[in-house]
Amino acid sequence: MQDKISEGIKKKIEKLVKELNYHSYRYYVLDSPVMPDEEYDRLYRQLKELEEDYHYVLPDSPTLRIGAPPLEKFEKVKHIEPMLSLDNAFSYDEAREFDKRIKKLLGTEDEVEYAVEPKYDGLAIELTYKNGLLFRASTRGDGYEGEDVTQNIKTIKSVPLKIEGSKIPGEIDIRGEVYMDLDEFEKLNKQREKNSEAVFANPRNAAAGSVRQLDPSITTTRKLYLACYGIGMVKGISFKNQSELTKWLQESRFPTPLKMKVVKGIDKVIGAIKELEEKRGDFSFETDGAVIKVNDFGLQQKLGVKTREPRWATAYKFQAHQGTTKIKEIHGSVGRTGVITPFAVFEPVRIGGVTVSRSTLHNWDEIERKDIKVGDTVVVERAGDVIPHVIMVIKEKRTGEEKKFPIPEKCPACASKVVREEGEVAVRCVSLHCPAQVQEKIIHFASRGGMDIEGLGEKNVELLYSNGLIKHFEDIYKLKKEDLLGLPRFAEKSAQNLIEAIEKSKHATLSKFLLAIGILHVGEYSAKLLAKNFRRLEDIYKVTPKRIMQIKQMGKKIASSLSAFFNDEKNIKTLESLKSLGLKITNLDFISEKKGEAPLEGLTFVVTGIMPKSRKEVEDLIEANGGHAASAVSASTSFLVVGEEPGSKLGKAKTLQVKTISYDELLKMIEKKPVNPRLF
Ligand code: IVH
Repeated sequence: MQDKISEGIKKKIEKLVKELNYHSYRYYVLDSPVMPDEEYDRLYRQLKELEEDYHYVLPDSPTLRIGAPPLEKFEKVKHIEPMLSLDNAFSYDEAREFDKRIKKLLGTEDEVEYAVEPKYDGLAIELTYKNGLLFRASTRGDGYEGEDVTQNIKTIKSVPLKIEGSKIPGEIDIRGEVYMDLDEFEKLNKQREKNSEAVFANPRNAAAGSVRQLDPSITTTRKLYLACYGIGMVKGISFKNQSELTKWLQESRFPTPLKMKVVKGIDKVIGAIKELEEKRGDFSFETDGAVIKVNDFGLQQKLGVKTREPRWATAYKFQAHQGTTKIKEIHGSVGRTGVITPFAVFEPVRIGGVTVSRSTLHNWDEIERKDIKVGDTVVVERAGDVIPHVIMVIKEKRTGEEKKFPIPEKCPACASKVVREEGEVAVRCVSLHCPAQVQEKIIHFASRGGMDIEGLGEKNVELLYSNGLIKHFEDIYKLKKEDLLGLPRFAEKSAQNLIEAIEKSKHATLSKFLLAIGILHVGEYSAKLLAKNFRRLEDIYKVTPKRIMQIKQMGKKIASSLSAFFNDEKNIKTLESLKSLGLKITNLDFISEKKGEAPLEGLTFVVTGIMPKSRKEVEDLIEANGGHAASAVSASTSFLVVGEEPGSKLGKAKTLQVKTISYDELLKMIEKKPVNPRLF
């Protein structure tokens, strides 16, 4: 490391920053690079080394775009001028009415000058520059207050860190849209699908999701772009109109909307819209309309603002993209909750710049309603969303070869029998083993409301699942410390803690367990109700809907779901293997009709030391089984229940010759004469 910095080194660093920024601008804003990537990378590395050696980093250095640490949360930012939204015009007639209104408000018959440009489907952002340097970037939020996303926005290469040129305002809020290219969007979704992650419905969501990342190292990996279309507060510079502003933005190296046109009169505006609509399929980004703005800022001021939208602008909405294609196949896909959703596979067709080869058919009723068959020619639409929808079947194209696709009887992921409840559109797989649902089920199983395994939350379940360590509930109880130690998020202590938490969870109550295994429609309340009515888990095996419906407050839905679950051999096998892995389930809720059968009747217990359950839970267990739980050892104490690190009570018990037992021995006492609670 060097300390002293010579003028020569300073100059070299300054030159490198300038050069790199210029080439980045050519690449990301002008889309006309002149420097080969390798050369750029070489200069970048050179700059990085010099900066590190001499601790001299310019505020617009490209190296500042990456490396910011993840945030805990986003800070709130108030916009000095509110960020408004736009009114819509859905037809040329509505666009003409917009023009009429403007003329009326301005009290003129003369043609008005308008700027027309594509409407970018992304996320509105405000960039605040102070003395030419990017000071902060914030989201639109509710228009008045957004979130500080500076560190993420800095990763977008087309966002200037410094305003270039000769006219630098003291302070300025520049507004624009951050968006994702369609190619990039498709690539990202393909990759997410491969990783079994939820796909983004449209580029807008993908852009918003990428900007609202707490960890900027994720945003960096998403290729985002910017188009600047306006300003909020400004000091030290003024603009006459939209065209002048756009010119200044371009000179200052900001990316601006493609193909902006300034025209006089609504006829020419409509002409410009038509042109944009024709070209929209060639654009690399998603656009669902054109924005029409009164060009003159003085007139804009005069026209003013309604509540949330300016009177001087509107968004003309394009017709949705449509295309026709043939359905090659129909399949069902199993979601994380077991719902089986039909989808169609098409002969690939390009619709508005995107290749469409499949689409959801939503549900089985929808297939019936639209009378969709395999082999049908259909109209497919991509509206604002990139996710396509089948609009209708072109029946005239039928040849008679088309085939109806029946509602599946078996789950496409695991071949278990599916369930469809009366009056429900959803068809579900209720198997505990369905690979499509298993991860979600394990997360629920380990959650606080379920087996309450601390340290086995969503992230760790994902980690263990993707490393092949847990595929079913049972695998949780087969985990060893050594298995965990090789994983990125585990060290000695955290691995030990998780193993201990798993061990502790082996003692559960029946109601919690019933909730944990995630039977459809079984929530906290119904799990308790079941535990009140069935002594042991085995008593629910092979249950009939009729038996369930004898329980007050239990209806048809839950009855059929429970009987489907408990009559599935594979599910029972899982429950049995959980038992053999050491799971001990007590039932604190069972209401016995017979009295006087309590196994601990007439006995007094005192509890000391660390128990597998909380002290209170052990005492409740004793009381529920007819025993008395006392707090101090005396001559009348029948048993001292001793856990790890017992207190002085153990000494006292020895002196008084009170019998000591372990927690497991207590459970055995209860088991021998099972009344309430009951173990299995
Ligand atoms: S001008 C008063 N121009 O559309 C707002 N907005 O639906 C003036 N948008 O919040 C906005 N492309 O985020 C303008 N070329 C464009 C735009 C554009 C996309 C967004 C913007 C706005 C939203 C309104």
